Amino acid sequence: MVKMLLLFIVLAAGVGLQAKGLVLSAPESYDFAISSESQLSLLKLKETQVKNLQNYNEVLKTHLKKIKLAIKYSEDLLRTPGHNFLFGLKVLRHIYTDWPQYINILKKELGSKEILISQDLLMQQPTSVDFEESLGAVYRLQTVYNLDSYDMAEGILDGKDYKVKKWSIDECLILGLMYQDLKHYNESENWLQLALYYYEDHPNREELKIKLWEHSNLLESLVEANKGLGRYLEAKKFAKDLLSILPNHSYMQKQLPKLEYLQANPIKLTKPKKDHQLQKEICSNRYSKANTNLVCRYVDWTPFLQLAPLKMEELSMETHISIFHGFLGKKDIETLKNASRPKLQRNEHLSWNCSCKIGNLSSSSHDIARKINGLIIDITGFPSKGNQMLEVINYGIAGNYNPDDTAKSTTPNKANTLIFLSDAEKGGEIVFPSRQLKVKPRKGSMLVWVNPKGSVIYHQCPILKGNMWVANKVLN
Ligand SMILES: *[C@@H]1O[C@H](CO)[C@@H](O)[C@H](O)[C@H]1NC(C)=O
Ligand SMILES: *[C@@H]1O[C@H](CO)[C@@H](O)[C@H](O)[C@H]1NC(C)=O
Ligand SMILES: *[C@@H]1O[C@H](CO)[C@@H](O)[C@H](O)[C@H]1NC(C)=O
Ligand SMILES: *[C@@H]1O[C@H](CO)[C@@H](O)[C@H](O)[C@H]1NC(C)=O
Ligand SMILES: *[C@@H]1O[C@H](CO)[C@@H](O)[C@H](O)[C@H]1NC(C)=O
Repeated sequence: MVKMLLLFIVLAAGVGLQAKGLVLSAPESYDFAISSESQLSLLKLKETQVKNLQNYNEVLKTHLKKIKLAIKYSEDLLRTPGHNFLFGLKVLRHIYTDWPQYINILKKELGSKEILISQDLLMQQPTSVDFEESLGAVYRLQTVYNLDSYDMAEGILDGKDYKVKKWSIDECLILGLMYQDLKHYNESENWLQLALYYYEDHPNREELKIKLWEHSNLLESLVEANKGLGRYLEAKKFAKDLLSILPNHSYMQKQLPKLEYLQANPIKLTKPKKDHQLQKEICSNRYSKANTNLVCRYVDWTPFLQLAPLKMEELSMETHISIFHGFLGKKDIETLKNASRPKLQRNEHLSWNCSCKIGNLSSSSHDIARKINGLIIDITGFPSKGNQMLEVINYGIAGNYNPDDTAKSTTPNKANTLIFLSDAEKGGEIVFPSRQLKVKPRKGSMLVWVNPKGSVIYHQCPILKGNMWVANKVLN
């Protein structure tokens, strides 16, 4: 969906790699957007890049020092001319032997090592797939939770300031372009106005020049967004602003009379396609606590539980949904995460709807999987024939689980269990829409639901803040 837009950004910024004779055979994706674990390597990459730039800076500084010394020596010498042979030889010697050396200094190629390193790092940087996935994630978050653009840019979620690095004109412009590409002109205009606001407030225009940031690109997008909204007067204003900077902008010269015409003869505007509507409905719902006769008690119905009773909360009677608190301790959680890290993989079928990576652990190859599989059987009392697998899931930006909008049922099984391996600070709730039930993730708790007909569908709402891990097991 965002492909065209990316092309536009690359062209607009003039950094087309191919144009510079550097054809990269980048892999499809490094999964930076769909897994918080994969993001860690991005931080390492950034450190390497910073170090490399610092080294480059040192090379240039050392070089500049030599040039300054040469200037100083020459200036000092020529500032105090004298008419005697002592001085005459000194000047002659200087010009004869020093100046050729100065040429060598000027001709020296600088930082070739750092330039090579920088080019190598390009191969490890996020791909267009990663970038599109992260934009898609922001789109999902903003749509599902109805987030205000300004709050998002300022790092405010639900009225709380999360003290994160604020967004700037770059992020706002890119989101404005993304929404424009989706023909969501209202949101597009919001983001572009924010970009303009940050542009006008920008303390360092030189920094923008380095990034080839053009005010005119922003004005052009604002014309498009307002035109898409049928606000022809505003569109004309931005078109004129643009022409005042670039009087010969031929595209805008042609747009102006078109906008005049449209203002006099407005056309019917098309409504944008709405995405994520089911998820929005499910996740923004506040579900009142319906059942008051549900209990929270210590259970000891198996020999194992008699040794270590657990607190169980029954959440729904009809579908038998329960949560066991304190099912898994911190140490086991850590061990489980450690064991699954090298196994985390993108799941082509699921990752689309899940924004996650999944690692399968089997009882036969991992002690921790055997231990947890055993605990699940002990506690639920469901013997699990054959299935020795435990699925560990690590989520990325806006990580969520959103089964097909039209999904009516899953594969029938005895029961499903889901163990929360982390807390989600905001978002990430498990919702059973048919039971009007929303469960907040709590590290170490296990959710169990009986599902013999495969009719119980659950969703996991997009994570707004936090690093989310869960383990999943289907009991057949
Ligand atoms: C456009 O966005 C503004 C600000 O977010 C909102 O108040 C308004 O309702 C939106 N208008 C439409 C037509 O969606
Ligand atoms: C715009 O075009 C005119 C004539 O074509 C030319 O004289 C003028 O220098 C151009 N202005 C700029 C700013 O390029
Ligand atoms: C998990 O891995 C980290 C890093 O390798 C290590 O420091 C930690 O001790 C491990 N934890 C457990 C419980 O295995
Ligand atoms: C992981 O295990 C589940 C359930 O046993 C299975 O459906 C899935 O295909 C497995 N995934 C991989 C990548 O092996
Ligand atoms: C994931 O979403 C796509 C598009 O909405 C849908 O076609 C597909 O069936 C979904 N997959 C699952 C496992 O829900």
